[in-house]
Amino acid sequence: MNVPVTLLLLQHLIPEWRITRDLHGTWRATGSAPISAPNVNALLTAIHATDPNAITDATRLLTERGSAVASEGKPVTRDSSVEWPTMTRPRISAIAALDENNIIGAEGRLPWRIPEDTRRFRRLTMGHPVIMGRKTYESIGQKLDGRTTIIVTRNDDYTAPECVIVHSLTEALEYASAHDDHEVFIAGGEAIYQEGLDHCDRLYLTLVKGEFTGTVRFPDYSRFNKTVERTSRRDDNHEYEFVVLER
Ligand SMILES: NC(=O)c1ccc[n+]([C@@H]2O[C@H](COP(=O)([O-])OP(=O)(O)OC[C@H]3O[C@@H](n4cnc5c(N)ncnc54)[C@H](OP(=O)(O)O)[C@@H]3O)[C@@H](O)[C@H]2O)c1
Repeated sequence: MNVPVTLLLLQHLIPEWRITRDLHGTWRATGSAPISAPNVNALLTAIHATDPNAITDATRLLTERGSAVASEGKPVTRDSSVEWPTMTRPRISAIAALDENNIIGAEGRLPWRIPEDTRRFRRLTMGHPVIMGRKTYESIGQKLDGRTTIIVTRNDDYTAPECVIVHSLTEALEYASAHDDHEVFIAGGEAIYQEGLDHCDRLYLTLVKGEFTGTVRFPDYSRFNKTVERTSRRDDNHEYEFVVLER
């Protein structure tokens, strides 16, 4: 397979490293000199530009490989050959409904009732793992049917029937990615979205017109500036837009 132009340019910047992709889709960087973490990130960014399913950051590289290939600010000094054996991962998407002030919740509930939004949530997430914080799970009150429901909590003793319990978002994403190679969903609440947005490729948002009373918010998502889809809807009580955004 030919090495894409972006990588050739990058190779010019890091001449001591050669980047190739073989017939099986395995990316390989081989070199004689240490490589710094920023350059590992630059490598992965360039790979991602040509291969959207590629792993895109050194943190994820660490997570996926389970070995210390690169760590923040430190050069890679190991055997001067880095291999990314699995360059496919599922799309990571967040799904949320928010008002004009990014409010998503009030007193453990949604601030509105929009049946079409509930149906859209179900349709989009059906068959895929859905990650949520413990309070969001408790507001729903049960496992989502047809979907692996992954609950994030710091409580080691927490149990929930037929759900997967994890203790960090990283653990949740690792579990979800190992069980679905197409798409996994992050479904709130506030802290889970806040941490999860860095990992997300796509957002499925329902933008509800108006200002609602609430305490729980969706984080700033201005970096997702590519609109894939936008449709205006209304029912008897609410006006809203279904929006799909990517970075
Ligand atoms: N509009 C929407 O699209 C939408 C979507 C989701 C939720 N909501 C609303 O948002 C509200 C719930 O959201 P919330 O922000 O209050 O709570 P939440 O994120 O659902 O749950 C918070 C809990 O998750 C656990 N948690 C969070 N971050 C963690 C981490 N990094 N590591 C380990 N555990 C972690 C902790 O559980 P423990 O306390 O057990 O340790 C924490 O108390 C409800 O009103 C719900 O209706 C709205």
